[in-house]
Amino acid sequence: MRLRGKNALITGAARGIGRAFAEAYVREGANVAIADINIARARETAAEIGPAAIAVEMNVTRQDSIDRAISEIVEKLGHIDILINNAAIFTAAPIIEIDREDYQRAFDINVSGTLFAMQAVARHMIARGKGGKIINMASQAGRRGEPLVAVYCATKAAVISLTQSAGLNLIRHGINVNAIAPGVVDGEHWDAVDAFFARHENKPVGQKKQEVGAGVPFGRMGVAADLTGMAVFLATNEADYIVAQCYNVDGGQWMS
Ligand SMILES: NC(=O)c1ccc[n+]([C@@H]2O[C@H](COP(=O)([O-])OP(=O)(O)OC[C@H]3O[C@@H](n4cnc5c(N)ncnc54)[C@H](O)[C@@H]3O)[C@@H](O)[C@H]2O)c1
Repeated sequence: MRLRGKNALITGAARGIGRAFAEAYVREGANVAIADINIARARETAAEIGPAAIAVEMNVTRQDSIDRAISEIVEKLGHIDILINNAAIFTAAPIIEIDREDYQRAFDINVSGTLFAMQAVARHMIARGKGGKIINMASQAGRRGEPLVAVYCATKAAVISLTQSAGLNLIRHGINVNAIAPGVVDGEHWDAVDAFFARHENKPVGQKKQEVGAGVPFGRMGVAADLTGMAVFLATNEADYIVAQCYNVDGGQWMS
């Protein structure tokens, strides 16, 4: 029960990795707000997790939605100790086919969404005066480019950079900002990635997953549960001296 009495806001937690984080946090004694643009799915997820989880509608691209969601969470839970900026979309295209609207959407969700949710929660944490923990979801895609994934890679590189700057700026308030860089994590997100590569590399559906899994030094793709240990640790007081870092949790894919 390492997070007993803590309240966490997790964006994009209706499914996938965010959901696994919510489940792990509740197991450790926290209350969690499942904040997602897909409120129907967020409600289902919260109901399945139990009374320590509440569902909140939040579109990270809209300031009014971020502010309303935070007010609702503070009203229901009292305060926020932990934020996980997890909501993001994947997008891929060869350079000469990148669409400007697609580029803007990815940056609005993955980068602006992370920055302005972080800003809003940091303001709340500073006003409360008890510090807090902010965890941003980066990716191995933020560590280097990929031929067909320029925009997503750039958004995740930006998340790593924002984590460094915010981490350095906010630690004076007792707010630790760090990031997690997963490798390849199976789930609905990767179903879409696999479908993209099936089209662009002319592969049968499922083959890209097999290939990337075989390429991971650990020997398989990750699953959401592989990431929960780091997400819990970074939210505990044991991580108080960890500032502005990005941790690879990727089965040995990347070293930095
Ligand atoms: N799955 C992987 O292989 C992998 C690898 C590296 C990093 N990541 C990162 O981990 C995080 C979670 O990934 P996942 O695989 O669980 O993704 P996912 O696509 O399964 O879940 C993303 C969630 O974000 C929500 N969302 C989308 N747009 C939103 C918006 N505007 N406002 C609020 N919520 C919104 C979706 O409704 C969904 O519930 C993401 O940041 C992703 O980039 C994933």
